[in-house]
Amino acid sequence: MTFDLMDTHAASAYKILSCLVTPRPIAWVTTVNADGIVNAAPFSFFNVFGSKPPLLAFAPGDREPGVPKDTARNIRQQRAFVVNLVDEGVLQAMNASARPLPYGVSEIEGSGLNLIPGEAVDVPRIAEAPASLECTEHSTIEIGGNRLVIGIVHRVHARDGLFDSENLAFNAPAYNPIGRMASPSWYCHTTDLFEIKRPQ
Ligand SMILES: Cc1cc2nc3c(=O)[nH]c(=O)nc-3n(C[C@H](O)[C@H](O)[C@H](O)COP(=O)(O)O)c2cc1C
Repeated sequence: MTFDLMDTHAASAYKILSCLVTPRPIAWVTTVNADGIVNAAPFSFFNVFGSKPPLLAFAPGDREPGVPKDTARNIRQQRAFVVNLVDEGVLQAMNASARPLPYGVSEIEGSGLNLIPGEAVDVPRIAEAPASLECTEHSTIEIGGNRLVIGIVHRVHARDGLFDSENLAFNAPAYNPIGRMASPSWYCHTTDLFEIKRPQ
């Protein structure tokens, strides 16, 4: 099958792309509003894009034309956010935080999750996440109903046991992030690892 996303299949673009471009990592983004209320929401239109400077991007779609999701709204005000990564242990809490709550109502309260204050930015991270990336907003590009939030990663917090403290060797089997699969609600485990050496 061939899909014309500019014409015949425009209304199905989200479904087609989000089902095929998988697995995707999940950015579980914490932000703070002007009253200090902490917001948390997952975004799987997400990845890292460079290391000099350390760069990532994720894309909150607008709720309706011109109305940003709370995450994008807070980032526009505070210019900072934290990307918490998602493993098996926080999977259910991540999913629960995707509920659309009124602006200013925290997804964290009553969730059983704990927050740790930021070091490089004034936004807390989720203690239970396996790793968290403290970011400042580099820019947000509005393209149609999408906002592409580009962030600079200032500080990374990784759970003990993921990196060897002496040589930074990564303990891959100790890290089991969840992957986002087909829309709307399929996921994958990442416990079945294999290695292929790169040609020299
Ligand atoms: C695993 C997962 C991934 C998601 N990825 C995105 C995404 O990339 N972009 C988006 O706009 N919404 C995405 N959502 C939906 C948002 O999390 C949801 O709209 C949420 O209510 C936004 O919260 P906020 O208004 O507090 O920012 C995703 C939901 C889940 C469960």
